[in-house]
Amino acid sequence: MTKKLYIETVGCQMNVLDSELVVGSLRRHGFELAHEIDTADVILFNTCSVRQHAEDKIYSALGTLRGHKRRYPEKIIGVLGCMAQKDQELIRRRAPHVDIICGTGQLARLPELIAEVERTGKLQLALSLDRTESRHEVERSFESYDPLRDPSMRPNRFQAYVRIMIGCDKFCTYCIVPSVRGPEQSRHPEYIAAEVRQLADEGCKEITLLGQTVNSYKYEQGDGRRLRLSDLLDRIHGTSGIKRIKFITNFPRDMDDDLLDAVRDLPKVCPYLHVPAQSGCDDILRRMKRQYTADYYRDMLARCRERVPGVAISSDFIVGFCGETEESFERTCHLVREGGFKNSFIFKYSPRPGTKGHEHYPDDVPEEVKKRRNNDLLAIQNKVSLADHRRKVGERVEVLVEGPSKTALKADWSGPLQLTGRTMSDHIVVFEGNERLTGHLVQADIEEATAFTLFGRVVTREYDGVESASGASGEESVAQLGQRQRIQLPLVSGAP
Ligand code: 5AD
Ligand code: SF4
Repeated sequence: MTKKLYIETVGCQMNVLDSELVVGSLRRHGFELAHEIDTADVILFNTCSVRQHAEDKIYSALGTLRGHKRRYPEKIIGVLGCMAQKDQELIRRRAPHVDIICGTGQLARLPELIAEVERTGKLQLALSLDRTESRHEVERSFESYDPLRDPSMRPNRFQAYVRIMIGCDKFCTYCIVPSVRGPEQSRHPEYIAAEVRQLADEGCKEITLLGQTVNSYKYEQGDGRRLRLSDLLDRIHGTSGIKRIKFITNFPRDMDDDLLDAVRDLPKVCPYLHVPAQSGCDDILRRMKRQYTADYYRDMLARCRERVPGVAISSDFIVGFCGETEESFERTCHLVREGGFKNSFIFKYSPRPGTKGHEHYPDDVPEEVKKRRNNDLLAIQNKVSLADHRRKVGERVEVLVEGPSKTALKADWSGPLQLTGRTMSDHIVVFEGNERLTGHLVQADIEEATAFTLFGRVVTREYDGVESASGASGEESVAQLGQRQRIQLPLVSGAP
């Protein structure tokens, strides 16, 4: 009999990809996806530790499952990912009804862990050892694991993530990632190219290469040559079927000219760079151990724009980091005012036990002040985003159509069908159109803009060389799409 699996995902794109791979691997062991917790035999939470809020959400979800587990003791509950790696003891204490605690580097072992709980009824712990010891083990596991793609777990078949690195060696003082995701390791370029090929064969048009500091990618080849992200982009650019290549997230210090030249010269590579600044104040950047000054970051922005004309840039900022004064915050506001970012993700500092920031500096900015700074910075960024989006009005852009817009998916929506998609520069475009355009590239004229969205009109009846009137068979109906989004899209919160 097939067993049913329910999985909920919190956190970044890396977690979304991990969940896809977990489902891919469990399907091979006879599992099917359940759409509700009630009908599932195995309930998994893929967790995030980057901020306290993400952890609180999981503890609260686990709390509500306590009664469920008492009524159905045979059901298996698992906590996966970053929080499992970091909080093993705490999870055991706060949620003793959990059966599996499995860290980020150990997900390939899940089928075996589930079988072991079924056999013994005992808690199964699978955690990576410390950063040096676990290195080779993790390296081996992700080569057998990453190709286990499961298209049905993705919101759609034409977009996919591909991991090119794991871990991080930067150790920014606020950040838990280096301790929960382990040391930085770049994947073999041939494995990456093969995975991209496989995705293209399955109908994927857009791939997003993932790494915590994706532009630090480097792979030493046997001949002593060191391959970098620019070389990798060049290597996979020829994959037929793939129309767009993106990569996230970048570290400002590793934004080399050869990478920028590759973005400019390779037509499938999207002119979109997510390069988190985190702060505009040198004192704070030093405390954060970001390895650059605000002026270095400004020069880097200028270099990106000079080498890649028309590039769209987005950023992340943390407000209320330890020691952030009104003056330091004002410097960050200044950087956002002049930075010209398409958008920024703004976070209130959340102290993470186990990080240098938590050990060395008091969390001395009161919560109300963090909130106010968050709102103020958002208001500034919104003005900048509006100006950025308005500049697109009047342009003709190519849009990869992702499906009905959120508004069109609402039960009470009765207007003409609105579709949404993204431009090469990652701008969101909403327009009226036939649902059969989903998954295709269309040309649209941009007529209006808000801070978050461009509104346009499709100008061609041709898409990807296919006449829209004749339609592409086998496309999903809106109802199916809506259902798939409700049921199978993992719960994602937070920013990249
Ligand atoms: N508190 C708040 N925000 C954080 N980020 C990382 N660690 C923390 C933290 N402790 C933010 C950074 C990063 C994004 C993914 O999350 O801005 O770029
Ligand atoms: Fe965390 Fe990114 Fe810094 Fe690595 S580079 S420690 S993932 S913020």
